[in-house]
Amino acid sequence: LVTRALRGELTIPNWQKFTEAIGRIFTYGKKFDQGQVATYIPQLARIDPKKWAVSICTIDGQTESWGDFRDPFCMQSVSKPFTYAIAIEQLGADYVHSFVGQEPSGRLFNEICLNNVFKPHNPMINAGAIVVASLLYQKEVLSTRFEYSLREFDRFAGGGRISFNNAVFLSERETADRNYALAYYMREHKCYPEKTNIREALDLYFQLCSVSTTTNSLAVMAATLANGGICPLTKDRVVCTIAVRDTLSLMLSCGMYDYSGQHAFKVGLPAKSGVSGAMIIVIPNLMGIALYSPPLDMLGNPVRGVKFAEKLVEEFKFHQY
Ligand code: DON
Repeated sequence: LVTRALRGELTIPNWQKFTEAIGRIFTYGKKFDQGQVATYIPQLARIDPKKWAVSICTIDGQTESWGDFRDPFCMQSVSKPFTYAIAIEQLGADYVHSFVGQEPSGRLFNEICLNNVFKPHNPMINAGAIVVASLLYQKEVLSTRFEYSLREFDRFAGGGRISFNNAVFLSERETADRNYALAYYMREHKCYPEKTNIREALDLYFQLCSVSTTTNSLAVMAATLANGGICPLTKDRVVCTIAVRDTLSLMLSCGMYDYSGQHAFKVGLPAKSGVSGAMIIVIPNLMGIALYSPPLDMLGNPVRGVKFAEKLVEEFKFHQY
């Protein structure tokens, strides 16, 4: 990093000017205090709604953070793109997509619905993510499947702060009637590999939703996607370029719940949100951004995260088109 900086080769040469501008967008985001914290998982209902954090990490590994960036939170659905990327890396796109589609569902993230060939619409909604969880490390026992998945998350984060929130996991599993219904409905339609243990697939899915991190580390994970699958901090190739391409394509079309079309139109950048208030934005070949603000809008996206993304592309020409 230092050598490249001295040679004037960094992706963002005037770092101070750039970070000041991002800092102003962070402050702008603070103004928005609408929205409701998710309450359907009791542990999430108790979260402090005032938390607001933004971190960025460039593909050169330059990082900066604002606000409550040291506070841990659960990734929830922000884990879905990473789980999917790991599945593509290990199993190949043909195999993974023999179980899950690539189409926005146009429905809520937890709806009990399948596409016209009885597969989940895409891996960014619950149905698709539960099926992807059933594909990972099939030969291993559940504990090892989780251990190996977490190890990959850790590689994405360059050895950052990745841990597990057992309270959220237990709380989510206790209140997951909808996901159980969805998982069994999918078994009726033969959506899983043969011999899949549905409860174990769900447990792995809940565990991955309960992975805990900070915006600091999540920005590095997003930057690994921005950097074609190589972690900018460790130079470790975590996933192949095809896995990144497929993941970012689906984040662009399906990453923001039933707001994905509008987000793609207005912001034009792959993003993923989660019910904890976590969100990532990937600017390919430039940087990863992680945001955290628990209050959600009517569609389930973090209010401040959405406003931040819109302001970002107003200030900088980051919209891909
Ligand atoms: O499956 C659930 O109910 C949640 N834990 C999913 C988390 C989430 O953020 C939903 N997003 N697509």
